[in-house]
Amino acid sequence: MACKKFLTLNNGLKMPSIGIGTWMAPDHEIEAALDLALKVGYRHIDAAPVYLNEKAIGRVLKKWLDSNQIKREDLFITTKLPPPANRPSCVEKTLRNSLNDLQLSYVDMYLIHTPFSVPETGGDFERDANGDIVIDPTTDHIEIWKTMEKMVELGLTKSIGISNFNKKQIQRLLDNSKTKPSNLQIELHLYFQQNELVDLCKANNIVVTAYSPLGSRGIVDLKKSAGVKCESINLIENPKVLEIAENHKKTPAQILLRWIIQRDVCAIPKSTNPERLQQNLNIWDFELSNDEMSSLSKLDKGIRVCDFSFFKGMEKHPEFPW
Ligand SMILES: NC(=O)c1ccc[n+]([C@@H]2O[C@H](COP(=O)([O-])OP(=O)(O)OC[C@H]3O[C@@H](n4cnc5c(N)ncnc54)[C@H](OP(=O)(O)O)[C@@H]3O)[C@@H](O)[C@H]2O)c1
Repeated sequence: MACKKFLTLNNGLKMPSIGIGTWMAPDHEIEAALDLALKVGYRHIDAAPVYLNEKAIGRVLKKWLDSNQIKREDLFITTKLPPPANRPSCVEKTLRNSLNDLQLSYVDMYLIHTPFSVPETGGDFERDANGDIVIDPTTDHIEIWKTMEKMVELGLTKSIGISNFNKKQIQRLLDNSKTKPSNLQIELHLYFQQNELVDLCKANNIVVTAYSPLGSRGIVDLKKSAGVKCESINLIENPKVLEIAENHKKTPAQILLRWIIQRDVCAIPKSTNPERLQQNLNIWDFELSNDEMSSLSKLDKGIRVCDFSFFKGMEKHPEFPW
């Protein structure tokens, strides 16, 4: 059940259009899930140090690579520069830490995780007396990007990209960089279709990756626990999705993912459930018709789940919203 569609990056590297997300998966869960994911054909893994499980991911990768069950060049591994390290002086040491934890000598994609930075604390993000997140307002994307380019020269990553950047921030980077970003990772799903950003990226040869492609129950729970009002979005119960799923004898999640893939966008659904994890990769034996694609495209509700409002005070950042 291997991934059958690859997206070619602007440096020629091919990225499998389905990867596995690893956020909100504790060590024991992600180890078992990744082991199964590699068995059933996943080759693209989306990681980040803020998910606090890169060591566990590294243990699974080492087992598979050392036993020659898989070749390094057949894997596509992404990790990210976290907000507390979002400054030029931190890029190399932070990437080297991730490589050490992942037990790899290089990653395939290194992304700037967020357009904002917070002070380097070595632990939890700092809060002020009001409980607001402390932001570092001096973030300079152009200077960070120059250091990201050096990471490619050093062979520590094959490609570099960005995540959660808005149109203005992407354009500024395009206008001021030698190496153009290969990848933009953003929230994208049926109710937040991101047409403008997808068009901007296609026009500039940037592959888009959809995070939270199934609507991310995790972020909704996180927001609720932070006391932020949040609409629950239950994409898999949308009547149109259910109707199309019934027509193709597929699950609603498979329809949601297939709709993304047919837009030439990559998707990184997270599942640590054996059945759902396999389901999410098994989307190659059917195709959505033009009518189905356009009826799904009419369902955009502009509902953004991951607006970082779970970080109280984020709205004070000079470039908010992303
Ligand atoms: N760049 C960023 O800032 C950023 C932000 C958020 C996420 N991400 C990345 O994107 C990945 C995916 O996003 P996400 O984790 O927020 O949300 P998601 O993939 O949209 O949704 C994950 C949730 O859906 C459930 N699920 C998975 N497959 C399913 C299926 N076939 N049917 C029904 N439910 C299913 C999962 O539960 P089970 O595990 O129990 O199946 C989990 O609760 C993350 O893991 C992370 O790698 C990046």
